[in-house]
Amino acid sequence: MVEPILTRAVGVEGGHLLSSYLERGGYQGLKKALSMTPDSIIDEVKRSGLRGRGGAGFPCGLKWSFVPKDHPKPKYVVCNADEGEPGTFKDKVILECDPHMLLEGMAIACLSIGAEAGYIYVRGEFVRAIKILEKAVREARRDGYLGRNVMGSGKKIDIFVHSGAGAYICGEETGLLESLAGHRGHPRLKPPFPAVVGAFDSPTILNNVETLACVPHIITRGADWFTSIGPNPKNTGTKLFAVSGHVRKPGVYELPMGYNLKDLIEKVCGGIPDGRSIKAVIPGGSSAPPLKPEEIDVSLDFDTLAAMGTMLGSGAVIVVDDSVCMVKLTQRITRFYAHESCGQCSPCREGTHWLDLIMKRIEEGNGREGDLELILDICQGMMGTTICVLSDACAMPVKAFVEKYRDEFEAHISRGRCPMRGTHG
Ligand SMILES: Cc1cc2nc3c(=O)[nH]c(=O)nc-3n(C[C@H](O)[C@H](O)[C@H](O)COP(=O)(O)O)c2cc1C
Ligand code: SF4
Repeated sequence: MVEPILTRAVGVEGGHLLSSYLERGGYQGLKKALSMTPDSIIDEVKRSGLRGRGGAGFPCGLKWSFVPKDHPKPKYVVCNADEGEPGTFKDKVILECDPHMLLEGMAIACLSIGAEAGYIYVRGEFVRAIKILEKAVREARRDGYLGRNVMGSGKKIDIFVHSGAGAYICGEETGLLESLAGHRGHPRLKPPFPAVVGAFDSPTILNNVETLACVPHIITRGADWFTSIGPNPKNTGTKLFAVSGHVRKPGVYELPMGYNLKDLIEKVCGGIPDGRSIKAVIPGGSSAPPLKPEEIDVSLDFDTLAAMGTMLGSGAVIVVDDSVCMVKLTQRITRFYAHESCGQCSPCREGTHWLDLIMKRIEEGNGREGDLELILDICQGMMGTTICVLSDACAMPVKAFVEKYRDEFEAHISRGRCPMRGTHG
């Protein structure tokens, strides 16, 4: 098993304080980065193979290299700490247990593009994390790790904590940037991408908490060390997995990228309680299509899961046992997305709403013949046709649940009730 990197401070008394961070070797990456050129910082991150931990797995160093060098506007670094995907609760661990690791990663990102300011957009409900982050920023300013003269270098970097607006769509990168600027969190059409037109219409690096938290370690210990972690050279480093649902030991686990999903459930999380068996595993948050029990002997990495028609997403593994009705579960998903659609695009606004309506009637025992074809048809129209991918994020799992558990949906419709009635809550 690999040594903890992102979870070193978990369970450490006062681990979130600057003094504790410095004892763990904190801010050595920033010190080293201050002696490097911006290009060499980006090259090191590129060579590490670090891929974005917010969902899409986009190469981090490559994203940073898209920021124009000679742009007249100021540049910014923005951290996405909105963490709103159902099933995801891993960034909160970093925010609460090791906030200086994130600040250090953001400061290094600032150096790589010549930014003097960074913003952490934190989910508004994370009240404790916001307080801890604000204290960490105060400590870092007090001791010269942030401010007008970072570690005596003459460089200016400051970071600001911004409480989120309370909508899932504010986690989508351009929705977040709109919200950060005080506007409604409506995603923008891309291109232009945030690297060119980002925060306050200026060039911006935008990354997830976990992505940025990896950066100090990559700079301190080198790209080769990072690439040596995990069995797959295109999926490097460790990954935080937030495991929930029907396992004996749910929680956040740091494991090498590419760890086996079956082992995660059985060996790390203690298996399924109450003598029950697995019915489905959602490997990457509510937007990820489910895997059936016979499909879970698989490597948890971006490429393997994509090849199986699902995704690693944010690493939120939701385990579902055989007491659960798949119709009810799917309706929970449609209800969420119908509520969270921002309404700008017709396929998403109408599609999420109609999927929820039809799923609800099936769930309540009023399903009609042809409903499943209708659902699949609506899903088809929702994919690849909208400003952001929230629409796809609803259609993909719904389509997969209907296709993989079709007999259960059909039984609901033909019997006019849940065939499992009395066996689930
Ligand atoms: C509807 C929606 C919600 C999202 N929510 C989050 C979120 O809460 N946190 C996050 O890091 N990324 C979220 N993302 C992904 C971001 O748009 C973006 O890709 C990511 O923050 C980039 O960081 P990374 O390259 O480090 O992964 C969301 C995307 C969509 C479409
Ligand atoms: S896809 Fe949905 S959430 Fe995204 S911009 Fe369009 S309406 Fe809004």
